[in-house]
Amino acid sequence: MSVAVSCRGVGKVYASRTGDVEALSPVDLEIAAGEFVVLIGPSGCGKTTLLRILGGLQQASAGRMALLPGADGRQSVGFVFQAANLLPWLNVEQNVALPLRLQGRDTAARLARARTLCGQVGLAGFEQRWPRELSGGMQQRAAIARALADDPALLLMDEPFGALDALTRTRMNQELERLWLASGATVVLVTHSITEAVMLADRIVLMSPRPGRVQAIVDVKFPRPRRPALEGSVEFQAIASDLRRLLGEEA
Ligand SMILES: Nc1ncnc2c1ncn2[C@@H]1O[C@H](COP(=O)(O)OP(=O)(O)O)[C@@H](O)[C@H]1O
Ligand SMILES: [Mg+2]
Repeated sequence: MSVAVSCRGVGKVYASRTGDVEALSPVDLEIAAGEFVVLIGPSGCGKTTLLRILGGLQQASAGRMALLPGADGRQSVGFVFQAANLLPWLNVEQNVALPLRLQGRDTAARLARARTLCGQVGLAGFEQRWPRELSGGMQQRAAIARALADDPALLLMDEPFGALDALTRTRMNQELERLWLASGATVVLVTHSITEAVMLADRIVLMSPRPGRVQAIVDVKFPRPRRPALEGSVEFQAIASDLRRLLGEEA
């Protein structure tokens, strides 16, 4: 497997009026091309910071981070946040096509791509709707479609399903796995949900309390696609309870 992302001694200190805040202590992490990595850890441990550094939205204070283009030359990065952040004055397909519009792709090509993506994320028939006409889950589907618009090599997701009800979340997890398998992208997803982590990850990176560092890495080797019923298995629950113990959340 070729390496897609490499972090060597990546640290982050925020300067604030009340003094410096060390958000990340040196993080070493290599992520393989096509891998699905889940970051989990206590609130404030630096998960969002690490994700933003991976996506180039923020500079590390120390160390080196490299994104290595895949064999197919794809290099762009897609982001999905907890809030869908759709532009209210654009309809669904215009929102999905926005990254392509910013790249100057012509209207016909980008709308064709947006319609394909809307179909893939289960929004067929909703292309002309306004964001306010969609449920939270549907808005998040549109945000995922937008993040996939220019076929990113790396998809970064920061608690993308945190605001959704449990049933919708389970369904979105399955759909995300399907989209990821079809796209070949490398995914790094932050979550607070142990179930979501075990359901989706090839590897779970558990971060320590702030300043965040890699506390443990847990391999999850269940075959794919994974069914929701997997959650009931002894093997799944064994990994989940290991994670709870590592997070200090023994039930
Ligand atoms: N712009 C900033 N200025 C100062 N401190 C920040 C800033 N952004 C985040 N922090 C602090 O850095 C730490 C890590 O934040 P964050 O990466 O958002 O954690 P997480 O996503 O794991 O909850 C927190 O203590 C947070 O308060
Ligand atoms: Mg965060």
